[in-house]
Order: sequence, then structure tokens, then C-alpha cells
Amino acid sequence: MQDSDATRLNRLLAAAGVSSRRGSDVLIAAGRVTIDGVVAEVGARVTPGQKVAVDGRIVHAQRQIYLMLHKPGGVVTTASDPQGRPTVIDAVHVRERVFPVGRLDVSTTGLLLLTNDGALADRLMHPRGGIRKTYHALVRGIVSDETASRLAAGVDLDDGPTAPAEVRVAGRDAYGSVLELVLREGRNRQVRRMCEAVGHPVRALRRTGYGPLRLGELAEGASRRLTERELTDIRRVTGLDVEVRSAHARRGRQAR
Ligand code: URA
Repeated sequence: MQDSDATRLNRLLAAAGVSSRRGSDVLIAAGRVTIDGVVAEVGARVTPGQKVAVDGRIVHAQRQIYLMLHKPGGVVTTASDPQGRPTVIDAVHVRERVFPVGRLDVSTTGLLLLTNDGALADRLMHPRGGIRKTYHALVRGIVSDETASRLAAGVDLDDGPTAPAEVRVAGRDAYGSVLELVLREGRNRQVRRMCEAVGHPVRALRRTGYGPLRLGELAEGASRRLTERELTDIRRVTGLDVEVRSAHARRGRQAR
């Protein structure tokens, strides 16, 4: 790590809106500021990746941002693409550096969350978290109720059997069937491979729900910030809200 990557602690606190630089020095001198859990000294420097906290509360140098994108087809879920295809980062127009939470195939459309909140993203993407992901798949052929039950019970894929899922046939017509699938796993091309395995290849796939978030009427290609309510809900499913509340309670007890 280059020393030039380091920022003075008082500067970082000021940029994060905690206090002025001088005011931040007062907080530091009072022992209220930690870097990676260790009480900091006035004049300390912080390198990228270190966690700064004031009174036990993590300080975020950058304003945190949470966006829902209705990912269009043909757009890749990476920050940059060697083949020069448009990316989901190009599709959201914000100054902050954000990254996608999980990924959708290039031809899949639908709900994609983008943020710069690494802690939340880690929780949401952790396989043990088992976040519910809802998909609408237009598939070839008429899917019987029995086949839908097979998909729900789990099918054998080359990387092992799929976990139980919720699957219902939302519609059938001469062109095929529409399935609604709710998965807690997030394996590569999982919906496509599951449908293929039961003889009904996917023609179009859209993600309509991610945990408590719903795509709703957001137009394809459009993005918007999450509402406070959505943010509370998504934090709740990761358990991060409980951690924030107990940190507040701890600080309250210490202050008494
Ligand atoms: N399952 C798939 O097959 N593709 C996606 O993009 C998401 C889930």
C-alpha cells in the first residue's frame, strides 16, 4: 500500500460530515475514534479498507447509495467489459462508485441492486443468507403441474441437485408457459439450467423480486434510489438492522 493512498483521519472524518477537521481532532483526542477497532491518535492516517468508527459507529467516507435498476437485455453485470458491451454501471447515472449485488446473465432483464455499501452487499450475496429471488420465465412448451412440482422439489444439475424452491405456472398459451420461480440459491444460470433440465428451455427471463424488493412498474433501463422503507426492509432480512440497533443500545448504556 502506498503511503500516498493514506488520508489523514481528521480529513476523512470531515469529508464524511462528522465534524470539522479541528472538531474531529477533539474527538480523536478524547479517544472516541477508532481505526480497525484500535483507539486512534491525533495525526493518524487511514488507508483504504480500514474501518473508522466514532463512538463505535462506522464512518462511511462516501455517502452510501442504494439503487434499483431494471436491467435491460444486452447489458453485462460487470463494471467493465473486455468486449466493450454496455454495463450496468453505464446504465445508472450516479457520481458515486457503485457495484452490482450479484449478477444477472446478459440476456436476463429485471431487478438488480447496485450500491457502495460493501457490508450490506456481502450479506446479501452470502449463500447462507438465502435471500429469496423471484423470477418470471417464459419457457417453451406447456409445463404441467407435475413438472412444476419437480422443479420445486429440486432437479439434478451438473453442479449438484437444486434446493427446494417455489414454482408455479402463472400462464400457458400456444407459445409456451410462464413460470414464477422463487429461489434461495444463486448458482450460475440456475433458472435456465433448471428449465432446460425438465425439457422447457427459457425464451425470456426477468427477475421481479430480490428479498423484500419488488421491480414493480420501473421501466426497463430505468433506475431509482431505494426508499427508506425498502432500505429498512432489506437491512432487516440480512440482520444488519439488529446489529445497528444493538450498537446504538450499547452506546446508550455506556453513556448512562
Ligand atoms: N438464473 C439464470 O438462469 N439467469 C439469471 O440471470 C439469473 C438466474
